[in-house]
Amino acid sequence: MNKYKIIAFTKTPILKKVKGNPGPAMGHAPTPTSPRRMELKRAGFLRPMSPVNLYPAGLLRFNSELGAGGFGTVGLYSDIAVKTGVIRPDGRHSLTKEIRVVRRLFPDGAAAPENLFPVTVSSTDIIDRFIGEHGPALISKPAAVGSLDTIRHLLTDIDAYITETDPERKLAIKAFIFALITYQMINGLLELKFKKNGTETPAVHCDVKPANVLLHKQWHIGLTDFGLTHKVGDQGNYMLGTPLYMAPELLDTLNTDLSVTLTEKQDVWSVAATVYELLFGGMFYETKTWKRYYEPKSCSSTTEYEMKFKENLSAYLYKYTKKFQYKLCDYKKDTPMRGLHILLAHMFQLKPEKRPRLIKMRSFFSEELLNLSSTYNITPTEINDLFETMFSDSLRSKRSSLHHPHHH
Ligand SMILES: Nc1ncnc2c1ncn2[C@@H]1O[C@H](COP(=O)(O)OP(=O)(O)OP(=O)(O)O)[C@@H](O)[C@H]1O
Ligand SMILES: [Mg+2]
Repeated sequence: MNKYKIIAFTKTPILKKVKGNPGPAMGHAPTPTSPRRMELKRAGFLRPMSPVNLYPAGLLRFNSELGAGGFGTVGLYSDIAVKTGVIRPDGRHSLTKEIRVVRRLFPDGAAAPENLFPVTVSSTDIIDRFIGEHGPALISKPAAVGSLDTIRHLLTDIDAYITETDPERKLAIKAFIFALITYQMINGLLELKFKKNGTETPAVHCDVKPANVLLHKQWHIGLTDFGLTHKVGDQGNYMLGTPLYMAPELLDTLNTDLSVTLTEKQDVWSVAATVYELLFGGMFYETKTWKRYYEPKSCSSTTEYEMKFKENLSAYLYKYTKKFQYKLCDYKKDTPMRGLHILLAHMFQLKPEKRPRLIKMRSFFSEELLNLSSTYNITPTEINDLFETMFSDSLRSKRSSLHHPHHH
Protein backbone atom coordinates (compact mmCIF):
# COMPACT_ATOMS: atom_id res chain seq x y z
CA MET A 1 0.00 0.00 0.00
CA ASN A 2 1.18 3.48 -0.82
CA LYS A 3 2.66 5.36 2.07
CA TYR A 4 1.33 8.66 0.79
CA LYS A 5 -2.13 9.43 -0.42
CA ILE A 6 -2.84 12.37 -2.61
CA ILE A 7 -5.88 14.44 -1.98
CA ALA A 8 -7.11 17.54 -3.76
CA PHE A 9 -10.05 19.42 -2.37
CA THR A 10 -12.19 21.05 -5.00
CA LYS A 11 -13.36 23.59 -2.44
CA THR A 12 -12.33 24.30 1.11
CA PRO A 13 -14.75 22.02 2.89
CA ILE A 14 -14.44 22.64 6.60
CA LEU A 15 -16.19 25.52 8.25
CA LYS A 16 -13.68 27.57 10.08
CA LYS A 17 -13.67 30.45 12.46
CA VAL A 18 -10.66 32.58 13.13
CA LYS A 19 -10.00 33.61 16.70
CA GLY A 20 -10.56 37.28 17.35
CA ASN A 21 -12.44 37.70 14.12
CA PRO A 22 -16.04 38.58 14.91
CA GLY A 23 -17.42 37.34 11.61
CA PRO A 24 -16.73 33.69 10.81
CA ALA A 25 -14.47 33.12 7.86
CA MET A 26 -15.60 31.90 4.46
CA GLY A 27 -18.75 33.92 4.16
CA HIS A 28 -20.70 32.33 6.97
CA ALA A 29 -23.25 34.44 8.76
CA PRO A 30 -22.42 34.95 12.43
CA THR A 31 -24.16 32.69 14.95
CA PRO A 32 -26.85 34.49 16.92
CA THR A 33 -25.61 34.92 20.44
CA SER A 34 -27.36 35.48 23.74
CA PRO A 35 -26.13 38.21 26.12
CA ARG A 36 -25.07 35.60 28.71
CA ARG A 37 -23.14 33.66 26.12
CA MET A 38 -21.42 36.92 25.15
CA GLU A 39 -20.58 37.47 28.79
CA LEU A 40 -19.10 33.98 29.11
CA LYS A 41 -17.13 34.56 25.93
CA ARG A 42 -15.88 37.93 27.05
CA ALA A 43 -14.79 36.34 30.32
CA GLY A 44 -12.79 33.87 28.23
CA PHE A 45 -14.69 30.69 29.13
CA LEU A 46 -16.09 29.92 25.69
CA ARG A 47 -13.93 29.80 22.61
CA PRO A 48 -14.55 29.50 18.91
CA MET A 49 -13.28 26.48 17.03
CA SER A 50 -9.72 27.07 15.84
CA PRO A 51 -9.16 26.94 12.09
CA VAL A 52 -8.36 23.67 10.37
CA ASN A 53 -5.35 23.39 8.14
CA LEU A 54 -6.52 21.57 5.08
CA TYR A 55 -4.08 20.82 2.35
CA PRO A 56 -5.43 22.44 -0.79
CA ALA A 57 -3.68 19.78 -2.85
CA GLY A 58 -1.34 18.03 -0.52
CA LEU A 59 -0.13 14.68 0.61
CA LEU A 60 -2.26 13.01 3.22
CA ARG A 61 -0.82 10.07 5.01
CA PHE A 62 -2.37 7.69 7.45
CA ASN A 63 -1.43 8.36 11.04
CA SER A 64 -3.66 6.40 13.33
CA GLU A 65 -7.19 5.27 13.99
CA LEU A 66 -9.22 7.78 16.00
CA GLY A 67 -12.19 5.58 16.67
CA ALA A 68 -14.78 3.21 15.29
CA GLY A 69 -18.47 2.62 15.75
CA GLY A 70 -21.37 0.74 14.29
CA PHE A 71 -21.40 2.77 11.08
CA GLY A 72 -17.83 3.54 10.25
CA THR A 73 -14.19 3.96 11.14
CA VAL A 74 -12.54 7.29 11.78
CA GLY A 75 -8.89 7.61 10.80
CA LEU A 76 -6.43 10.43 11.19
CA TYR A 77 -4.83 11.25 7.85
CA SER A 78 -2.15 13.92 8.31
CA ASP A 79 -4.25 16.35 10.32
CA ILE A 80 -7.68 15.49 8.95
CA ALA A 81 -10.20 13.10 10.50
CA VAL A 82 -11.84 10.89 7.87
CA LYS A 83 -14.83 8.66 8.56
CA THR A 84 -15.34 5.86 6.09
CA GLY A 85 -18.08 3.26 6.02
CA VAL A 86 -18.75 -0.11 4.47
CA ILE A 87 -21.18 -1.52 1.93
CA ARG A 88 -23.90 -3.34 3.84
CA PRO A 89 -25.28 -6.76 2.85
CA ASP A 90 -28.35 -4.97 1.43
CA GLY A 91 -26.03 -3.11 -0.94
CA ARG A 92 -26.36 0.27 0.75
CA HIS A 93 -23.43 2.22 2.07
CA SER A 94 -23.41 2.52 5.87
CA LEU A 95 -22.87 6.30 5.75
CA THR A 96 -25.66 7.08 3.27
CA LYS A 97 -28.02 8.45 5.88
CA GLU A 98 -25.43 10.43 7.77
CA ILE A 99 -24.18 12.01 4.55
CA ARG A 100 -27.68 13.22 3.73
CA VAL A 101 -28.00 14.65 7.23
CA VAL A 102 -24.57 16.32 7.19
CA ARG A 103 -25.34 18.09 3.92
CA ARG A 104 -28.39 19.64 5.54
CA LEU A 105 -26.77 20.42 8.90
CA PHE A 106 -23.72 22.11 7.41
CA PRO A 107 -24.78 23.52 4.04
CA ASP A 108 -22.45 25.92 2.23
CA GLY A 109 -22.86 29.45 3.42
CA ALA A 110 -24.67 28.61 6.66
CA ALA A 111 -23.56 29.90 10.03
CA ALA A 112 -20.76 27.91 11.66
CA PRO A 113 -22.18 26.14 14.73
CA GLU A 114 -20.29 26.59 17.97
CA ASN A 115 -20.82 23.17 19.53
CA LEU A 116 -21.32 20.81 16.62
CA PHE A 117 -18.09 19.39 15.33
CA PRO A 118 -18.04 20.57 11.71
CA VAL A 119 -18.22 17.79 9.16
CA THR A 120 -18.18 17.87 5.41
CA VAL A 121 -18.82 15.27 2.73
CA SER A 122 -16.03 14.40 0.36
CA SER A 123 -16.83 13.86 -3.26
CA THR A 124 -16.46 10.37 -4.70
CA ASP A 125 -13.71 11.71 -6.89
CA ILE A 126 -11.70 12.79 -3.88
CA ILE A 127 -12.15 9.60 -1.95
CA ASP A 128 -11.11 7.52 -4.95
CA ARG A 129 -7.72 9.11 -4.90
CA PHE A 130 -7.57 9.32 -1.16
CA ILE A 131 -8.40 5.96 0.32
CA GLY A 132 -8.05 4.09 -2.91
CA GLU A 133 -11.51 2.64 -2.69
CA HIS A 134 -14.96 3.66 -3.81
CA GLY A 135 -17.43 5.21 -1.48
CA PRO A 136 -17.93 8.57 0.15
CA ALA A 137 -16.38 9.76 3.37
CA LEU A 138 -17.07 12.32 6.04
CA ILE A 139 -14.27 14.72 6.74
CA SER A 140 -13.73 16.70 9.92
CA LYS A 141 -10.87 17.89 11.98
CA PRO A 142 -9.44 15.75 14.72
CA ALA A 143 -10.56 16.66 18.22
CA ALA A 144 -7.50 17.72 20.23
CA VAL A 145 -8.35 15.37 23.10
CA GLY A 146 -10.87 12.92 21.64
CA SER A 147 -14.32 11.71 22.60
CA LEU A 148 -15.49 11.95 26.21
CA ASP A 149 -15.64 8.18 26.14
CA THR A 150 -11.87 7.91 25.82
CA ILE A 151 -11.22 10.25 28.78
CA ARG A 152 -14.19 9.37 31.00
CA HIS A 153 -11.95 8.16 33.84
CA LEU A 154 -10.13 11.52 33.90
CA LEU A 155 -13.41 13.37 34.30
CA THR A 156 -14.68 11.00 36.96
CA ASP A 157 -11.38 11.48 38.86
CA ILE A 158 -11.30 15.23 38.33
CA ASP A 159 -10.88 15.80 42.10
CA ALA A 160 -7.37 14.42 41.84
CA TYR A 161 -6.39 17.12 39.34
CA ILE A 162 -7.91 20.15 41.04
CA THR A 163 -5.15 21.55 43.25
CA GLU A 164 -7.46 23.81 45.30
CA THR A 165 -7.29 22.83 48.99
CA ASP A 166 -10.46 24.53 50.20
CA PRO A 167 -13.09 21.78 49.84
CA GLU A 168 -15.93 24.10 48.90
CA ARG A 169 -13.99 25.93 46.22
CA LYS A 170 -12.70 22.61 44.93
CA LEU A 171 -16.29 21.42 44.45
CA ALA A 172 -17.13 24.73 42.79
CA ILE A 173 -14.41 24.18 40.20
CA LYS A 174 -15.69 20.66 39.58
CA ALA A 175 -19.24 21.96 39.25
CA PHE A 176 -18.01 24.63 36.87
CA ILE A 177 -16.31 22.11 34.56
CA PHE A 178 -19.35 19.84 34.44
CA ALA A 179 -21.63 22.81 33.83
CA LEU A 180 -19.32 24.01 31.04
CA ILE A 181 -19.43 20.60 29.35
CA THR A 182 -23.20 20.24 29.75
CA TYR A 183 -23.85 23.79 28.61
CA GLN A 184 -21.98 23.18 25.37
CA MET A 185 -23.72 19.86 24.70
CA ILE A 186 -27.07 21.58 25.11
CA ASN A 187 -26.03 24.49 22.92
CA GLY A 188 -24.92 21.99 20.26
CA LEU A 189 -28.34 20.32 20.35
CA LEU A 190 -29.99 23.72 19.94
CA GLU A 191 -27.78 24.33 16.90
CA LEU A 192 -28.83 21.03 15.37
CA LYS A 193 -31.09 22.17 12.54
CA PHE A 194 -31.79 20.98 9.04
CA LYS A 195 -31.28 23.91 6.74
CA LYS A 196 -32.86 24.23 3.34
CA ASN A 197 -33.54 27.28 1.20
CA GLY A 198 -33.35 29.63 4.14
CA THR A 199 -35.65 27.54 6.36
CA GLU A 200 -34.54 25.67 9.47
CA THR A 201 -36.14 22.54 10.92
CA PRO A 202 -35.11 21.55 14.44
CA ALA A 203 -33.53 18.12 14.71
CA VAL A 204 -33.09 15.42 17.34
CA HIS A 205 -29.62 13.87 17.59
CA CYS A 206 -30.89 10.52 18.95
CA ASP A 207 -27.44 9.21 19.85
CA VAL A 208 -26.00 11.50 22.52
CA LYS A 209 -23.46 9.51 24.56
CA PRO A 210 -19.85 10.02 25.69
CA ALA A 211 -18.47 8.44 22.49
CA ASN A 212 -20.29 11.01 20.37
CA VAL A 213 -19.15 14.10 22.25
CA LEU A 214 -15.73 15.39 21.24
CA LEU A 215 -13.43 17.40 23.48
CA HIS A 216 -11.29 19.90 21.69
CA LYS A 217 -8.84 22.51 22.96
CA GLN A 218 -9.52 24.35 26.21
CA TRP A 219 -12.74 22.58 27.15
CA HIS A 220 -14.35 23.19 23.78
CA ILE A 221 -17.06 20.58 23.23
CA GLY A 222 -18.57 19.54 19.90
CA LEU A 223 -21.25 16.94 19.19
CA THR A 224 -20.53 14.50 16.41
CA ASP A 225 -21.97 11.38 14.74
CA PHE A 226 -25.14 12.48 12.98
CA GLY A 227 -26.02 9.02 11.70
CA LEU A 228 -29.26 8.81 13.69
CA THR A 229 -30.22 12.49 13.56
CA HIS A 230 -33.91 12.97 12.74
CA LYS A 231 -36.32 15.84 12.25
CA VAL A 232 -38.44 16.75 15.25
CA GLY A 233 -41.78 15.05 14.57
CA ASP A 234 -40.29 11.94 12.96
CA GLN A 235 -41.12 8.59 14.53
CA GLY A 236 -38.70 6.58 16.64
CA ASN A 237 -38.72 3.31 18.57
CA TYR A 238 -36.56 1.00 20.66
CA MET A 239 -34.13 0.54 17.77
CA LEU A 240 -33.21 4.23 17.66
CA GLY A 241 -30.13 4.97 19.75
CA THR A 242 -27.75 3.27 22.15
CA PRO A 243 -29.66 1.32 24.85
CA LEU A 244 -27.77 2.72 27.85
CA TYR A 245 -28.60 6.29 26.95
CA MET A 246 -32.06 5.85 25.45
CA ALA A 247 -35.07 7.61 26.91
CA PRO A 248 -37.49 5.22 28.66
CA GLU A 249 -40.34 6.00 26.25
CA LEU A 250 -38.17 4.74 23.38
CA LEU A 251 -37.17 1.57 25.24
CA ASP A 252 -40.79 1.02 26.14
CA THR A 253 -41.92 0.74 22.50
CA LEU A 254 -40.45 -2.76 22.67
CA ASN A 255 -43.54 -3.77 24.69
CA THR A 256 -46.18 -1.56 23.15
CA ASP A 257 -45.42 -1.79 19.42
CA LEU A 258 -46.23 1.92 19.24
CA SER A 259 -43.70 4.50 18.13
CA VAL A 260 -42.69 7.78 19.68
CA THR A 261 -42.98 11.17 17.98
CA LEU A 262 -39.47 12.53 18.41
CA THR A 263 -38.82 15.77 20.23
CA GLU A 264 -35.79 17.31 21.91
CA LYS A 265 -36.86 15.53 25.11
CA GLN A 266 -35.31 12.23 24.01
CA ASP A 267 -31.98 14.05 23.69
CA VAL A 268 -32.50 15.67 27.10
CA TRP A 269 -32.61 12.21 28.71
CA SER A 270 -29.46 11.12 26.86
CA VAL A 271 -27.59 14.27 27.94
CA ALA A 272 -28.52 13.49 31.55
CA ALA A 273 -27.38 9.87 31.21
CA THR A 274 -24.12 11.00 29.62
CA VAL A 275 -23.30 13.66 32.21
CA TYR A 276 -24.30 11.36 35.06
CA GLU A 277 -22.01 8.63 33.82
CA LEU A 278 -19.04 10.97 33.50
CA LEU A 279 -19.69 12.51 36.89
CA PHE A 280 -20.08 9.26 38.83
CA GLY A 281 -18.18 6.80 36.67
CA GLY A 282 -21.19 4.55 36.13
CA MET A 283 -24.87 4.57 35.27
CA PHE A 284 -27.43 5.26 37.96
CA TYR A 285 -29.18 1.97 37.44
CA GLU A 286 -26.01 -0.02 37.95
CA THR A 287 -27.07 -1.02 41.42
CA LYS A 288 -27.11 -4.34 43.25
CA THR A 289 -30.78 -4.73 42.39
CA TRP A 290 -30.06 -4.22 38.71
CA LYS A 291 -27.20 -6.71 38.70
CA ARG A 292 -29.15 -9.28 40.64
CA TYR A 293 -32.63 -9.18 39.21
CA TYR A 294 -32.59 -7.25 35.97
CA GLU A 295 -29.32 -7.64 34.11
CA PRO A 296 -29.86 -10.39 31.50
CA LYS A 297 -27.89 -13.51 32.41
CA SER A 298 -27.98 -16.46 30.08
CA CYS A 299 -28.61 -15.40 26.51
CA SER A 300 -27.88 -17.42 23.40
CA SER A 301 -27.04 -14.45 21.16
CA THR A 302 -26.07 -10.81 21.38
CA THR A 303 -29.38 -9.87 19.75
CA GLU A 304 -31.29 -11.76 22.40
CA TYR A 305 -29.16 -10.11 25.08
CA GLU A 306 -29.81 -6.67 23.66
CA MET A 307 -33.57 -7.19 23.48
CA LYS A 308 -33.69 -8.56 27.01
CA PHE A 309 -31.46 -5.72 28.19
CA LYS A 310 -33.77 -3.07 26.73
CA GLU A 311 -36.85 -4.74 28.12
CA ASN A 312 -35.40 -5.08 31.61
CA LEU A 313 -33.91 -1.62 31.60
CA SER A 314 -37.29 -0.17 30.69
CA ALA A 315 -38.94 -2.06 33.55
CA TYR A 316 -36.19 -1.03 35.95
CA LEU A 317 -36.41 2.65 34.98
CA TYR A 318 -40.18 2.76 35.48
CA LYS A 319 -39.81 1.22 38.89
CA TYR A 320 -36.77 3.02 40.33
CA THR A 321 -36.24 6.36 38.58
CA LYS A 322 -38.34 8.37 41.01
CA LYS A 323 -36.40 7.09 44.00
CA PHE A 324 -33.19 7.81 42.26
CA GLN A 325 -34.26 11.38 41.43
CA TYR A 326 -34.88 12.10 45.10
CA LYS A 327 -31.50 10.72 46.01
CA LEU A 328 -29.82 12.87 43.40
CA CYS A 329 -31.50 16.02 44.76
CA ASP A 330 -30.43 15.13 48.28
CA TYR A 331 -26.88 14.28 47.40
CA LYS A 332 -24.38 17.08 48.17
CA LYS A 333 -27.38 19.26 48.84
CA ASP A 334 -25.65 22.30 50.26
CA THR A 335 -22.60 22.41 48.06
CA PRO A 336 -21.76 24.15 44.77
CA MET A 337 -22.79 20.90 43.01
CA ARG A 338 -26.39 21.40 44.04
CA GLY A 339 -27.54 23.17 40.87
CA LEU A 340 -26.14 20.49 38.59
CA HIS A 341 -27.62 17.64 40.66
CA ILE A 342 -31.08 19.14 40.74
CA LEU A 343 -31.11 19.84 37.04
CA LEU A 344 -29.94 16.30 36.30
CA ALA A 345 -32.77 14.98 38.47
CA HIS A 346 -35.26 17.00 36.41
CA MET A 347 -33.80 15.76 33.16
CA PHE A 348 -34.37 12.19 34.39
CA GLN A 349 -38.14 12.63 34.39
CA LEU A 350 -39.86 9.51 33.10
CA LYS A 351 -42.46 11.55 31.24
CA PRO A 352 -40.80 13.43 28.37
CA GLU A 353 -43.15 16.39 28.71
CA LYS A 354 -41.94 16.92 32.26
CA ARG A 355 -38.27 17.14 31.30
CA PRO A 356 -36.93 20.69 31.04
CA ARG A 357 -36.63 22.25 27.59
CA LEU A 358 -33.18 22.68 26.08
CA ILE A 359 -33.56 26.43 25.85
CA LYS A 360 -34.38 26.62 29.58
CA MET A 361 -31.46 24.39 30.43
CA ARG A 362 -29.10 26.52 28.42
CA SER A 363 -30.14 29.62 30.36
CA PHE A 364 -29.83 27.70 33.60
CA PHE A 365 -26.28 26.60 32.83
CA SER A 366 -25.04 29.95 31.56
CA GLU A 367 -26.43 31.53 34.74
CA GLU A 368 -24.81 28.79 36.82
CA LEU A 369 -21.45 29.31 35.10
CA LEU A 370 -21.51 33.05 35.70
CA ASN A 371 -22.58 32.58 39.32
CA LEU A 372 -19.93 29.97 40.09
CA SER A 373 -17.18 32.00 38.44
CA SER A 374 -18.06 35.19 40.29
CA THR A 375 -18.83 33.60 43.69
CA TYR A 376 -15.67 31.50 43.72
CA ASN A 377 -13.52 33.75 41.57
CA ILE A 378 -12.88 31.07 38.97
CA THR A 379 -10.75 32.35 36.11
CA PRO A 380 -10.26 31.13 32.53
CA THR A 381 -6.54 30.70 33.23
CA GLU A 382 -7.29 28.37 36.12
CA ILE A 383 -9.73 26.35 34.03
CA ASN A 384 -7.33 26.09 31.12
CA ASP A 385 -4.42 25.09 33.37
CA LEU A 386 -6.62 22.30 34.66
CA PHE A 387 -7.32 21.25 31.08
CA GLU A 388 -3.59 21.13 30.30
CA THR A 389 -2.83 19.09 33.42
CA MET A 390 -5.64 16.62 32.88
CA PHE A 391 -5.08 16.00 29.20
CA SER A 392 -1.35 16.58 28.79
CA ASP A 393 -0.80 12.89 28.09
CA SER A 394 -3.43 12.56 25.40
CA LEU A 395 -2.42 15.90 23.88
CA ARG A 396 1.24 14.92 23.88
CA SER A 397 0.64 11.50 22.36
CA LYS A 398 -1.48 13.13 19.63
CA ARG A 399 1.27 15.60 18.83
CA SER A 400 3.93 12.92 18.68
CA SER A 401 1.77 10.60 16.59
CA LEU A 402 1.66 13.39 14.02
CA HIS A 403 5.43 13.25 13.86
CA HIS A 404 5.83 9.48 14.11
CA PRO A 405 2.89 8.05 12.24
CA HIS A 406 2.15 4.35 12.40
CA HIS A 407 1.72 2.84 9.01
CA HIS A 408 -0.66 0.12 8.02
N1 LIG B 1 -13.14 14.41 14.51
C1 LIG B 1 -12.81 13.44 15.37
N2 LIG B 1 -11.74 13.57 16.17
C2 LIG B 1 -11.40 12.59 17.03
N3 LIG B 1 -12.08 11.45 17.20
C3 LIG B 1 -13.17 11.26 16.45
C4 LIG B 1 -13.60 12.23 15.50
N4 LIG B 1 -14.72 11.79 14.91
C5 LIG B 1 -14.97 10.58 15.47
N5 LIG B 1 -14.05 10.24 16.38
C6 LIG B 1 -14.00 9.01 17.17
O1 LIG B 1 -14.44 7.94 16.36
C7 LIG B 1 -15.55 7.26 16.96
C8 LIG B 1 -16.50 6.77 15.90
O2 LIG B 1 -17.04 7.85 15.16
P1 LIG B 1 -18.61 7.97 14.95
O3 LIG B 1 -19.27 8.04 16.28
O4 LIG B 1 -18.87 9.09 14.01
O5 LIG B 1 -18.90 6.56 14.25
P2 LIG B 1 -20.20 5.64 14.25
O6 LIG B 1 -19.80 4.40 13.56
O7 LIG B 1 -21.34 6.38 13.65
O8 LIG B 1 -20.48 5.38 15.77
P3 LIG B 1 -21.79 4.77 16.47
O9 LIG B 1 -21.48 3.34 16.74
O10 LIG B 1 -21.86 5.57 17.74
O11 LIG B 1 -22.95 5.01 15.60
C9 LIG B 1 -16.15 8.29 17.93
O12 LIG B 1 -16.78 7.66 19.00
C10 LIG B 1 -14.94 9.09 18.36
O13 LIG B 1 -14.32 8.47 19.48
MG1 LIG C 1 -20.54 7.14 17.46
